[in-house]
Amino acid sequence: MPKTDNNTVLAIKNISVEFDGFKALTDVRVDVKRHTIHFFIGPNGAGKTTLLDIICAKTKPTQGTVHFYPEGRESMRLTGMKEYKIVNEGVGRKFQVPSVFINLTVQENMILSLKGHKGIIDSMFRKPTKPELARINETLEKVGLADKADVKAGSLAHGQKQWLEIAMQLVQKPEIIMLDEPAAGMGKPETFKTGELLKEIKKECTIIVVEHDMDFVKQIADTVTVLHEGKVLTEGKVEDVLANETVQAVYLGRGGERDA
Ligand SMILES: Nc1ncnc2c1ncn2[C@@H]1O[C@H](COP(=O)(O)OP(=O)(O)OP(=O)(O)O)[C@@H](O)[C@H]1O
Ligand SMILES: [Mg+2]
Repeated sequence: MPKTDNNTVLAIKNISVEFDGFKALTDVRVDVKRHTIHFFIGPNGAGKTTLLDIICAKTKPTQGTVHFYPEGRESMRLTGMKEYKIVNEGVGRKFQVPSVFINLTVQENMILSLKGHKGIIDSMFRKPTKPELARINETLEKVGLADKADVKAGSLAHGQKQWLEIAMQLVQKPEIIMLDEPAAGMGKPETFKTGELLKEIKKECTIIVVEHDMDFVKQIADTVTVLHEGKVLTEGKVEDVLANETVQAVYLGRGGERDA
């Protein structure tokens, strides 16, 4: 295993990806530190989602490795592992498109996310234990949805659906959660609330976020990596990164990318 300092939870080394000759990522190297909120920002098509796909092994890189350093356990190479195994080892992922079951209640969605519940059929036959239910309740409490446990997920407001998805990850006690545009489609108050929630969650795990909303980035980022055309443009503290002229030219100068 490659050496890292103890604070590194994820080491992304020399990752390149090509899709039919198109270079989506080129030689990306990033260290993610434990219990930080690490943002990947950059214009549309910069390769942010592709990088998350590599980390969770949805996409195979043409070059490079990703290593995961769990606390108190042996480190492991995520590249080459099966997707479900990576989730079981403690690396969760929320996709850019919401993926809650709208016809199930909030609590049923949470039960589906529990480790050991492999699908809807299994969940119908294996009732959650008391400690599991307590954990579900405590997690819903944390994201402000405890009073919505019996409500159909489809009837939740957009922001609440996003918080449910975060709760569905948290209930699995992950060491890393990855969120692809968690604030997309949210108004300012909901976005701010999501930020405060993530600051709380950071005590329990490391959070990797892809987001276009710069106020949200400023509110909570510990580290920001800027991707541009598949390459790391710069990385650092939010204020330094946003003050960088090249970053402003390629990204901020375009007036925000949310609706692009
Ligand atoms: N499976 C694929 N096959 C071919 N090209 C792909 C595939 N996945 C992504 N790409 C291309 O790779 C580039 C990076 O895409 P990616 O989705 O990672 O960008 P992004 O930074 O997440 O953008 P956005 O901010 O719009 O979500 C894009 O040009 C995209 O069209
Ligand atoms: Mg994306």
